[in-house]
Amino acid sequence: MFVEEIKAINFRNYEELHLQLHPRLNIFVGENAQGKTNIIEMLYLSAMGKSFRTSKDQEMIKINKQQTYTKISVNKVSGNTTIEIRLDASQKKKLKVNQIPLVKLGELLGNLNVVIFAPDDLKIVKGGPGERRKFIDNEICQIYPKYYYTLNQYNRILQQRNKLLRENRGKRVDLEIWNQQLIDTGTTIITYRKKFIKRIGILAKLMHRKITEELETLEIQYESSVPFKEKDDVKEIAENFAKKLEENNNMEWRRGLTLVGPHRDELLFKVNQMDVKNFGSQGQQRTAALSIKLAELELIKGEVGEYPVLLLDDVMSELDIKRQNYLVNNLKNVQTFITTTMINQLNTTNIENRKVFYVSQGNIRKSD
Ligand SMILES: Nc1ncnc2c1ncn2[C@@H]1O[C@H](COP(=O)(O)OP(=O)(O)OP(=O)(O)O)[C@@H](O)[C@H]1O
Ligand SMILES: [Mg+2]
Repeated sequence: MFVEEIKAINFRNYEELHLQLHPRLNIFVGENAQGKTNIIEMLYLSAMGKSFRTSKDQEMIKINKQQTYTKISVNKVSGNTTIEIRLDASQKKKLKVNQIPLVKLGELLGNLNVVIFAPDDLKIVKGGPGERRKFIDNEICQIYPKYYYTLNQYNRILQQRNKLLRENRGKRVDLEIWNQQLIDTGTTIITYRKKFIKRIGILAKLMHRKITEELETLEIQYESSVPFKEKDDVKEIAENFAKKLEENNNMEWRRGLTLVGPHRDELLFKVNQMDVKNFGSQGQQRTAALSIKLAELELIKGEVGEYPVLLLDDVMSELDIKRQNYLVNNLKNVQTFITTTMINQLNTTNIENRKVFYVSQGNIRKSD
């Protein structure tokens, strides 16, 4: 799939924006603070219904304006799709797909698939377990919107169970009504994650071997607070979940907190058998993150039948020439957006296959 056109009004530092895009490579060049990432953010918003750099939608509305409106057209095998989003300083956000208003945010997911790689994504490798859970959740949501609802349900149950435990700290409070719901939704989440991690693990390993020219092996391991075996399915995982909760009963009463479940899950990335978070070099961590992102492309392709759009924000300068060339020249069927401060870094590309946009203070000029 690829984005054909973007229109926006009062989005960040853009008053009015109208761009026709290249199906293959779009490069946004400009100095710092000109509006390059804002374009990436607009695309991400159209795919996920939220920003990747703020949880406050209002921040995307141009300062001193009441509303922002974005409309993008996506060219897909299944036909063209338009996505419209209206953010208002004092109203709920409004979403439309093919002119039809959406009732829930979850309905937006899957209309435009994106894979984003931005400097912050290094957190997937270097950051805390919460960052890795956020990463898996975002990816699974894009492919299986049902997961999004289950995750929200789980989080609500978890909050209520935690509240009960917290308010009765030190007491043997009856958790029966919450346990079954926690186990049901939690097991669904773990089952999805198990499947997703296994598949992305295989793909990331392949990608990593390719970009390191067979020098390194990347492995992704799922460490769940609910133990399971490879062959285990929903039934076994649910049983293990129940057992683990039972074992932790006393501890939960004492600490006033839910200690078992997917909210405690962890992912381990190993390069040549070493935990890359603690033992990897900067370059190894970056390459591992890149391999994971490239694996996502393949995984989404496998699931939805076409490649997602790749958003590369400010990452080219962080990669060595070999890896930069790989991204620019090897992803022939993937529409790619690149932001950079230095165009000469990207001279290796065939000029026919790209469009370059010069970004300056919320204005965009296309090069000829
Ligand atoms: N809500 C807003 N209203 C108006 N302008 C905004 C708003 N939010 C951000 N900006 C402006 O947008 C610009 C930043 O845009 P962006 O993050 O896209 O920069 P960039 O070109 O990616 O820069 P860098 O190379 O530093 O990453 C800044 O000038 C900032 O003041
Ligand atoms: Mg930027």
